Amino acid sequence: MSKIEQEIAKRRTFAIISHPDAGKTTLTEKLLLFGGAIQTAGAVKSNKIKKTATSDFMEIEKQRGISVATSVMTFEYNGLLINILDTPGHKDFAEDTYRTLTAVDSVILVIDCVKGVEEQTERLMEVCRMRDTPVIIFINKMDREGQNPFDLLDELEQKLNIKVRPLTWPVNGGATFKGVYHLLEKQMYFFKVNKTKVEDDVALLELDSSDLDEKVGERDANQLREDVELIEGVYDTFNRDTYLSGKVAPVFFGSAVNNFGVRELLEAFCQISPLPAPRPTNVRTVDPLEKKFSGFVFKIHANIDPRHRDRIAFLRVCSGVFERGKFYHHTRLDKSVRFSNPYSFMASAKEVVEEGFPGDVIGLYDTGTFKIGDTLTEGEDLQYAGIPSFSPEIFKELINLDPMKGKQLDKGVQQLTDEGVAQLFTVQPGNRKVVGTVGELQFEVIQYRLEHEYGAKCRWVPMNTSRACWITSEDPKKLQEFIRLKGTQIGYDKDDNPVFLADSEWMIRMNRDNNPDIQFHTTSEFKVIAG
Ligand code: G4P
Repeated sequence: MSKIEQEIAKRRTFAIISHPDAGKTTLTEKLLLFGGAIQTAGAVKSNKIKKTATSDFMEIEKQRGISVATSVMTFEYNGLLINILDTPGHKDFAEDTYRTLTAVDSVILVIDCVKGVEEQTERLMEVCRMRDTPVIIFINKMDREGQNPFDLLDELEQKLNIKVRPLTWPVNGGATFKGVYHLLEKQMYFFKVNKTKVEDDVALLELDSSDLDEKVGERDANQLREDVELIEGVYDTFNRDTYLSGKVAPVFFGSAVNNFGVRELLEAFCQISPLPAPRPTNVRTVDPLEKKFSGFVFKIHANIDPRHRDRIAFLRVCSGVFERGKFYHHTRLDKSVRFSNPYSFMASAKEVVEEGFPGDVIGLYDTGTFKIGDTLTEGEDLQYAGIPSFSPEIFKELINLDPMKGKQLDKGVQQLTDEGVAQLFTVQPGNRKVVGTVGELQFEVIQYRLEHEYGAKCRWVPMNTSRACWITSEDPKKLQEFIRLKGTQIGYDKDDNPVFLADSEWMIRMNRDNNPDIQFHTTSEFKVIAG
């Protein structure tokens, strides 16, 4: 094996996703604990946008600072180099999460066994399904009285549009939770309340042995036998290929806060999760083993110190080897760029790196040359596919309060929307600026940052719009006609694509029915794929 093959074989890059409060932060922390990347529980805890803090700017600033440090967490386990890409839990930052999902090779989805599938879970999974990202499901909080596990599995299949396959199975739940039976290892893992230490109480137990009755009690042993029989009858045997193709999600049960079920999850993850795979671009599919480097920016983070305008761009390496100080081709700007201090995120301390391999995420200091989705190569003109913009849900018009600072305001809005904080649409006449977001919090963040980082003051005027649809047509004349007819309901996104700004789903449906020659797209992805 060549060096690059070895390095690729070692890498696993993934994200943990969940509805807020299901236990993503806790699970992340426990995985890091197993990986030895942190020594004590509680270290990752602060990486949460406080759920109540919707207007505490300093809190937002502080959180932004923390989340740079914990945006990517790298640790070694069983000879693998594991990169966890953090995704903000707060709903208002969902767009950030969607984009991060384009930079991972797989995900672990955390479900709260009491609440089952929640709103955010569905939306996040939709994004995973769009690119067939392999998913492992962790059903958390088994120490609480939750739903019947079979019902939970049915709910997962129905609401998430994916088949599931349990690999561990709980013996009871809540106050009488005894542990999980590993269906492949045929071992019983006994549950203990254990918040800080990493240790297991495991017994190899054949289902039909009397030892099982002795250890878990006759009634529960019989229930387990019955359940397992049903599982083996209802669900197909687990097959790694169907998992890798995103069609079947293996399911584990546990209690993250008690370190329970986490090791089995991690072990299985190491065995089955995908290594960096070939990725589509607008020109061709790029194999990670290719000699030449390529990668794309999936996240941009502003410096938390407003006196320094520099930002950090997060680059996912897709092929070849990224080298410090080498010139690379910025395909959108058609210019050469080099980075003298790229850094990695090993053990949460920023370290300058000499090289990066496919699967790695590298932090690049940026003075404004990057936009989300930008691609770097060794000269080839290509653009990685699949950084879609999703329709925002809240739209407001941006009004400049200081005519002397128009330029600063323009620059600020431009840069903040490049970072992906929100989407900017221009509406005619008068070049009106409409900002669309998925949460109220972003408007406060933008207003605050415009003032503190760019010296520009603004106010917001709410709009009735609640959906944006990118519009295309095979007939350019029909498209122009539609745009003319809709007037101020048409905006242009940053790449000058026309977007229909609608009041409601109903209005979109009506316009879709009345205009069969116009295609309405809910994400901007169509254009990337179309090249
Ligand atoms: P999130 O990142 O998905 O938003 O969730 P987070 O890990 O912060 O967990 C949300 C809450 O659920 C936390 O309680 C956490 O301790 C708890 N939790 C996580 N795993 C389990 C589990 O296996 N069993 C039970 N019973 N609870 C669990 P909190 O009260 O918000 O925080 P804390 O004060 O306990 O730290």
